[in-house]
Amino acid sequence: MAQSIQKRIQELTRQIHHHDHRYYVLDEPEISDAAYDLLFRELQKLETENPDLKALDSPTQRVGGKALDAFKKTQHRAPMLSLANALTEQELLDFDDRVHRLIERPDAESLEYFVELKFDGLSINLTYENGILVSAATRGDGETGEEVLHNVLTIRSVPLRLNTETPPKLIEIRGEVILPVADFEKLNEAQVQSSQKIFSNPRNAAAGSIRQLDPAITASRPLTLFCYGIGYSEGYKPASMNTYQDQLAAWGFPVGKHRQVCKGTSEVLEFYSAIRAKRDQLPYEIDGIVVKLNRLSELDRAGFISRSPRGMVAFKYPPKQETTIIEDIIVQVGRTGALTPVAIVTAVRLGGALVRRATLHNQDEIDRKDIRIGDRVLIQRAGDVIPEVVKVVTEARTGNERLFKIPDHCPVCSSPVDRKPGEAIVRCVSRNCVAQLKERIRHLVMIDALNIEGLGERIVEQLVDANLVTTYADVFRLKEADLLKLDGFAEKSAQKLVAAIHLARKTDLYRLIFGLGIRHVGERTAKILSQHFGEITPFFSANEEDLKKINEIGPEVAKSICLWFADPKAQQDLKALLEEVEIRALPRRAAGQGGLAGQTWVLTGTFPTLSRSDATRMIEEQGGKVSASVSKKTSFVVAGEEAGTKLDKARELGIPILDEAELIKKLKTES
Ligand code: IVH
Repeated sequence: MAQSIQKRIQELTRQIHHHDHRYYVLDEPEISDAAYDLLFRELQKLETENPDLKALDSPTQRVGGKALDAFKKTQHRAPMLSLANALTEQELLDFDDRVHRLIERPDAESLEYFVELKFDGLSINLTYENGILVSAATRGDGETGEEVLHNVLTIRSVPLRLNTETPPKLIEIRGEVILPVADFEKLNEAQVQSSQKIFSNPRNAAAGSIRQLDPAITASRPLTLFCYGIGYSEGYKPASMNTYQDQLAAWGFPVGKHRQVCKGTSEVLEFYSAIRAKRDQLPYEIDGIVVKLNRLSELDRAGFISRSPRGMVAFKYPPKQETTIIEDIIVQVGRTGALTPVAIVTAVRLGGALVRRATLHNQDEIDRKDIRIGDRVLIQRAGDVIPEVVKVVTEARTGNERLFKIPDHCPVCSSPVDRKPGEAIVRCVSRNCVAQLKERIRHLVMIDALNIEGLGERIVEQLVDANLVTTYADVFRLKEADLLKLDGFAEKSAQKLVAAIHLARKTDLYRLIFGLGIRHVGERTAKILSQHFGEITPFFSANEEDLKKINEIGPEVAKSICLWFADPKAQQDLKALLEEVEIRALPRRAAGQGGLAGQTWVLTGTFPTLSRSDATRMIEEQGGKVSASVSKKTSFVVAGEEAGTKLDKARELGIPILDEAELIKKLKTES
C-alpha cells in the first residue's frame, strides 16, 4: 500500500514538474488549468496524509511557506561578477581589438561571440545539489547575498529539479529575475488602489518582490526568470556558451529566445540593430545586449579586470528620451558640499520608470542650455542614473518662463558657497552643514563601505535631524533607546539595527578608507591605498608626493586626499571613529605562511556569530584554504546549525569536525 502511494506521489511530482515547464518556461501548456489543479490537489492530499513520502523537490513547496523573521546570508561558491559597458559601435570595436590582443589571436581572424539580451532585473544565484534546488541567493556584494529560496520557490519557471537522470554533483545557475512590463503596470495600479508604495520601474518592483520576508507577497507577483550563466560547478564542464545555454534549456531552465553565435563584430552589430528595432515590443525590459566570447577556453584566457571578465561586454542601447515640463528647480547639497540644481518635472514615463526629477548638473549647464523654470524640455535616462535634461523645446516657450540662478548661500545651512577657478561646481564651505553630514553618514554606512545593514537613507536623516549623530563615531554610540525615539522603530527593529552596527565595528581598511567619502576616492582607489599602506596610520601621515608615487594614484586624487586630511575637523572625526572600529589585518598573501598553511577547511551550516565569508577570510588570513566539498584531503570541517550532507561525508571519512567556538580557538592558538 505504502509503496503504491509512494509511486503515485512520485508520478504526480513528475507530471506537475512537466506541466510547470510546459506552461511557465515553454509557454505551451498541454492540459487545462482545471486538470492541472486536480493533479496538484491530489498530490497535496497524499502528502498531508503521508508526510514522510514527500519528495525533496515537491512542487507543493511553491505554495508560499511561512514568513521569515530575517534573511540569512549565503556565500556564493564562485563570485558574482559584473560587466564592462560599451556605449557606442566604436567601443564595441575597441573591445574586439582588446580581446584579440588578450587571447593572442591575429587581428584578421573573426572571433566567435555568443550574443543575447541584457535583461534588466535582479540577478540571482540558484544552487542545485545532485540536481535539487537547495539555495537561491541575491547578488549582494558579489561574494555573499541574501538567501531568498522561500520566495524563489514561488516562481513557477524556476525548476526545483534538473530535468536529467545524471545531474552534476553541484552547480550554481545564474539568472535574472524580472517582472514583465504589463505586470509591472498592473502591480502599480493595484499599489495605488491600496495606497501602497509605487515602484519606479520593473527592476525595482522585481527586487522589492524578491526581498520580502513573506513568500505570500512574492507569490502574488508574476515574476519570471531568464538564466544566462553558470557559476561554480562540479561535474559539468562545457566548451562553449551556446552549448551550455542549450544544456540549461534541456535541464528545464528558461533561457532567452534571442541568442545566437556571431562571427566577428559585423554580425554582433547586426544582432544589436535587429533587437533594437524590436525592443519596444518585447514584453520585458532590456538595456542592451551582452556579447561574450563563445569558447570558454578563450574566455578564460582573456582573464578579468577588477570584477569583470575581459572577454564579455554589455553593449548598451542609447538612453530613452521624453519631453516634459520643468515645474521648479531645487538645489541639493552633496557629501562634499557640491550644490546640484535638480529640475522637478511633471511626472513622465521613461524607459519603464516614472520620472519626477532630472539633474541639471550645474549653473554652467543651465546657462549653456538656457534652461528656465516652466520650460518644456527633452529629458533622457541612461540606466540607473538620475535622468538629465538634454535640451529645451524653445518653440514651446510662452514668455512666462523664469530664469534660475544657483544661490550664493547653502540652501540648507546658509553658509557662503565657493566656486574654485576652473571648476563648474559650487560648494558649501561649511563642515558643519547638516545636508553634507547626512550624505557623509549615508556614504559611511553603505554596503561597499562599513556596510551597516538596515541603516537606510531615511533613518540617517532622522538621526542627524534629532542630533543623535553629528560625527562618524556617533553612529557606533547609538543605543536602542535612541532609535526608539525615531519614527518606525519598535523594540525588535531597534535591537536589530544596534546588532548590525556592532557587527560593522570590525571592518577592512579599504572599507574604512572608502567610507570616509574623500573626493575622488572610490572603492577601487580605496583598495589600492589599503594594499599599499596596510594600516591606517601610514596613510594618515602620507604627503602628496608619497601618494603620487603609488601606482595608479594620480595627482588629482593625491591632492584631494591631502586636502581632506588638512582639515583638523576631519582628522578629529577620523580619530574618534578609529576608537570605535577595529580594522582587520590584511590577509597574509604569501602562500605557505601562517599557522594553517597547507590545511584545507570546509565550512557547512550556519554559525552562531560568524558569517561564512568572515570564517573563510579568517582561515585564509592564516594561510589555510577553504574548499566547497569534503574529500579525503580535507583537514577540518566546521559545522554550524543545519549542516547538511557535508557533515555526513566528514563523519564517513573520519575528518575532525569543529564548531565555531573551536574554530576561533584554533585560529587564536595558531596565530
Ligand atoms: S552575463 C560577469 N548575461 O547584468 C557577469 N548578465 O552587469 C556575467 N545580466 O549582474 C553576466 N542579462 O545580473 C549576463 N544575458 C546576460 C544578462 C546579464 C542581465 C545582468 C547580470 C549581471 C549584470 C552585469
